[in-house]
Amino acid sequence: MSAGKNTETSADASAKNAQEPSGPAPDFDTLIDRQGTSATKWERYAGRDILPFWVADMDFAMPPFIADAVRSRLEHPILGYTRTPPSLVAAFQAWMQHHYQWRVEADWLVWIPGVVGGFNLAARATARPGGAVMIPTPVYYPFLDVPGNAGQRAQHVPLVREGERWVMDMEALERAASPDTALLLLSNPQNPTGRAYSRAELSELAAFCLRRGIVLCSDEIHCPLLLDPAVRHLPVASLDPDIARVTISLYAVTKAYNMPGLSCAVAVIPDAALRRNFIRAQAGLVPGIGPLAYAATEAALNDRGPWLSQLLHYLRGNHERVRSVVGRRMTPVEATYLAWIDVRDLDIEHPGAWLEDAGVGLSDGAAFGAAGFVRFNFACPRPLLERGLTRLQAGLSSAPARGEGRSTGSN
Ligand SMILES: Cc1ncc(COP(=O)(O)O)c(C=O)c1O
Repeated sequence: MSAGKNTETSADASAKNAQEPSGPAPDFDTLIDRQGTSATKWERYAGRDILPFWVADMDFAMPPFIADAVRSRLEHPILGYTRTPPSLVAAFQAWMQHHYQWRVEADWLVWIPGVVGGFNLAARATARPGGAVMIPTPVYYPFLDVPGNAGQRAQHVPLVREGERWVMDMEALERAASPDTALLLLSNPQNPTGRAYSRAELSELAAFCLRRGIVLCSDEIHCPLLLDPAVRHLPVASLDPDIARVTISLYAVTKAYNMPGLSCAVAVIPDAALRRNFIRAQAGLVPGIGPLAYAATEAALNDRGPWLSQLLHYLRGNHERVRSVVGRRMTPVEATYLAWIDVRDLDIEHPGAWLEDAGVGLSDGAAFGAAGFVRFNFACPRPLLERGLTRLQAGLSSAPARGEGRSTGSN
């Protein structure tokens, strides 16, 4: 398929994205010590000289207006069971309209405590006896558990590298689909390859789903994190009402505002029958969302200030540094803060473990369904990034090239 770059953006938006953000920049350069917070990212390597660049959270403070919103909610002394506040629903509708020009109705929304739960619910809501879930790979590893969790078969279809980007292999999708394919799981922007799919790509994929009677579950959690200033995020369900009818779209602002510990997400499901099945699939399993998470999410949805563009500006700088070291092993990251690095030319069986021995903790591609790659999370203060890049470079250059014979003993 042609992978036209997603440059479909108004000249204004593109110019705005490329501009230096105004106002005093938050301090993204100073490393905040996360010791004592049981941080998943840092605890993995506690007591070892390994710098963590794996799980997708950022080593930056959340913006002050989020902390203020949480503090303000804490002024009330009762943190009881909480209904979805109407003001939050309105904030989400306005956010969607403002950023993506998609008018979503309040009754399309199902609030859930996490996107991972959301795509698992999508599989349960669409499961058929002997059914299958189709998954383009590599992909954020919890996707790969979804078919098994829902008692469905998995149909993995590898993305292919076309020049400087990873694209869907539409012919392979057509070949892999069967009459019992119930669901396709899309990650857009794509974790781990950093693609933000174009209108043409999304339209072709959605047309395929419509034609084959496949529900499309689109995880768009990374959509505010656009690094390429010329690229715009397109919610797949906003392309056409027919596509919306077969789509479950998942959103959360926890990733972009770096508060994944305050879980709150929303499924947008325009079709009433699909929505009913999704709600039924929760039956007794899914907890409510807490009042602090609601407060934080609402503050993020209402944000129209400079914090996010200041963050993106910083991440673009980090991206440049990573590319200057990693070179053609990676494709440019259009969105997310994750670099997908090809090390298949090196004769190392477990590149993640090899690099840990070199003092950097990356995610091994095998977990994403693609051995021979590693994923590097570059959302951290630049001094830490520089230390990590030095170790990464040393680790990669100490590895034997394929054909030189396997090294032993190091991992
Ligand atoms: C593509 C993708 N979806 C979902 C999540 C996690 O979502 P949640 O914490 O809301 O379950 C992540 C976190 O890295 C992600 O990268």
